[in-house]
Amino acid sequence: SKQHNLEAKRIAGYAAAEQVQDGMVVGLGTGSTAQYAIQRVGERIQEERIAVTGIPTSYQSALRAREAGILVVDLPGVSSIDLTIDGADQIDARFNLIKGGGAAHTREKCVADASERILIVADATKVSECLTAPVPVEVVPYATVGVGRHIRALGGEPVIREAVRKDGPVITDNGNFVLDCAFGTINEPAALAARLNAIPGVLTCGLFTEYAEKITVLIGESEGCRTL
Ligand code: A5P
Repeated sequence: SKQHNLEAKRIAGYAAAEQVQDGMVVGLGTGSTAQYAIQRVGERIQEERIAVTGIPTSYQSALRAREAGILVVDLPGVSSIDLTIDGADQIDARFNLIKGGGAAHTREKCVADASERILIVADATKVSECLTAPVPVEVVPYATVGVGRHIRALGGEPVIREAVRKDGPVITDNGNFVLDCAFGTINEPAALAARLNAIPGVLTCGLFTEYAEKITVLIGESEGCRTL
C-alpha cells in the first residue's frame, strides 16, 4: 500500500541520515525518500550540534534543507562531496540506476559524480534484477522532435512528460523538457546511456551506470533497514 511504502521510505531515509558525520559536505537528493533524510539531518544538526554543509540536487531539496536548518551551498562552491543521499526509481542487481522520476536527474548526476560515497535510499519495490522502467531523458526544448526520432531509432518509445498542475510539458529546474522513454528490458544500460547522451539536444539521461563502486543501497522495510 501507499502508506506502507511511505513508511519504508522514511525508514531508509532516516537510516541514511544516521551515516552523516560532523564536518561533512553532504549531497541532498530529490524525491520523497531523500526528503526524509534531509529532515532527519536537520534534526541531528539541532540535537547533536554537528556541522553539515548540504549540496542540493534541486529546488525541492534546497527549499527542504533550508526549512530543516541545513546550511546549503551550490555545487560550484565545493570541490568534493563526502556523502550523497539520494533516491532512485529503479535499482538493478549491479547497482545501475534509473533516476529522474522527479525530473532532477541532471543535477543529481553532477552531485553523484562529485561524491566520494553515495547512499541510495528506497523501498523494496524499486529493486529489480534488470532495469525495465522508462528512462527519463532531459532535452533542450528546441531539439525535442529530433531527439524523439533518434530515440525511436534506438528502439525506445518517447513520451513528453506532461505537468499535473500546469498545461503542457514539465519544465525542469534547468528550463528543459523530459522525454520518458520506454525500452522494455534494458540489457546493456551503459551502452544505451552512451547512445542517449550522444544525441544532439540531450542534456542528460536518467541511466546511472558508472557509480556502482561508490554506491550503497539502503532498503527500508517494516522490520528496519536492509543494506545491499
Ligand atoms: C528525482 O528526479 C529522482 O531521481 C528521484 O530520486 C526518484 O524519483 C525517487 O523518488 P521517490 O523517493 O519519491 O520514490
